[in-house]
Amino acid sequence: MPSRPVKALLSVEPGVDPVEVRDALPSDENFTVVAVASSAEETLSWLRDGIVDLLLVACAGYSDRALLLLDSVHRQHPDLNVMVLGQGSPNGFLTRAFEAGADDIVMLPATPEQIRFEIHKLLARKRKSEQPSLGEGARLVCVLGPKGGTGKTLTSTNVAVALAQRGHSVALIDLDLQFGDVALCLGLPPERTVYDLAQSPGALDWDKLQAFLPQHSSGVRTLIAPRRPDQASAVGAELLREVYAIMRANFEWVLVDTPPGFTAEVITSIDSSTDIVMVGMLDSLSLKNTKLGLETLELMKYDPDDIYLVLNRAHSRVGISQSDVEAVLGRAPDILIPSDREIPRTVNEGIPIVIARPQSEPAEAFSRLAELLAGPTAEAATEPALAAAAPEPKRRRFGRKA
Ligand SMILES: Nc1ncnc2c1ncn2[C@@H]1O[C@H](COP(=O)(O)OP(=O)(O)OP(=O)(O)O)[C@@H](O)[C@H]1O
Ligand SMILES: [Mg+2]
Repeated sequence: MPSRPVKALLSVEPGVDPVEVRDALPSDENFTVVAVASSAEETLSWLRDGIVDLLLVACAGYSDRALLLLDSVHRQHPDLNVMVLGQGSPNGFLTRAFEAGADDIVMLPATPEQIRFEIHKLLARKRKSEQPSLGEGARLVCVLGPKGGTGKTLTSTNVAVALAQRGHSVALIDLDLQFGDVALCLGLPPERTVYDLAQSPGALDWDKLQAFLPQHSSGVRTLIAPRRPDQASAVGAELLREVYAIMRANFEWVLVDTPPGFTAEVITSIDSSTDIVMVGMLDSLSLKNTKLGLETLELMKYDPDDIYLVLNRAHSRVGISQSDVEAVLGRAPDILIPSDREIPRTVNEGIPIVIARPQSEPAEAFSRLAELLAGPTAEAATEPALAAAAPEPKRRRFGRKA
């Protein structure tokens, strides 16, 4: 949820029980229903006060009154966020509601968590479309994994370094705000962190941000996670969006290492990203969670072509075949990373395996992932044998479907 509470106005159509709808809405310090209006006049009068961030219109079926209200709201308050809470799926109503100006529609019954997630997505998407197109050219890659310990940090640190080794300017952000360990994996002292950035006075610009980005010997600049878990809450979605915009204007690649799951910060980062690297492991529990993660991205309308699937600890001895994986996930993994005893050793030494053991299988897998993202290097592209062996880069610019 955004850093300040969302103020919502609930407009209830005849035939809808306001108490039932109110009970379905989130109830926490991040979300307040300022009033419940039971007519179009009452709704428009509340909106005139300008204190509402979000209008929720609850209706029972196909409702011309609701469509008229949506149309008036859209004309009088074109920038207002509007979500319809519908019941049943009356013929043609959803399309008409979107045409009349609804930004999103959630069908009831839904849990408060589902509604909170939809509201967060709607507000994040709206803010994104309002942002100046600062640094649109750079790629922002969100490294995700639905569960802890799948290899997200291992992947993001090694791919960041592999991209830098190919001559790109790269920034790596540790978004695991409570337990981030990018600094450890890169052997960097956690001198200045994103918490210090959040605490520092004055507006954020490139000059200021640079002072908080220590440089790794590979050239990768990093924004390090807070030193203590209690400092995590100081880093809000607003700051992250600013940081992403400035970084995309100043680097070719911005990688984001994330905590497990779809937290509010992760959703904000997905919304700002052009590509996703989903890291799963080769066991049935992890595959199930990876599938759930991919389905969540689909619900968020993320283009599957912009999602790279990495399977970590992948080797043939676990009794799951490539075709089992494809049957569960509905697609083949792009990169397989084998289990390797060298990996924990390089993590402990704070030297990514692409530097410490560049000829090892995992290092080659990370380099292939960098190549898949960025395309072959200039030398490889002009060397026929190498070019033929190089994976086709997927050419895309933005992660969201239009
Ligand atoms: N392929 C592998 N072979 C051997 N060890 C591995 C492999 N992948 C990961 N590990 C080890 O597993 C541990 C967890 O990896 P990593 O920190 O990258 O996971 P994560 O997804 O970032 O975890 P978290 O969700 O806790 O942030 C690391 O200590 C790493 O050394
Ligand atoms: Mg991690």
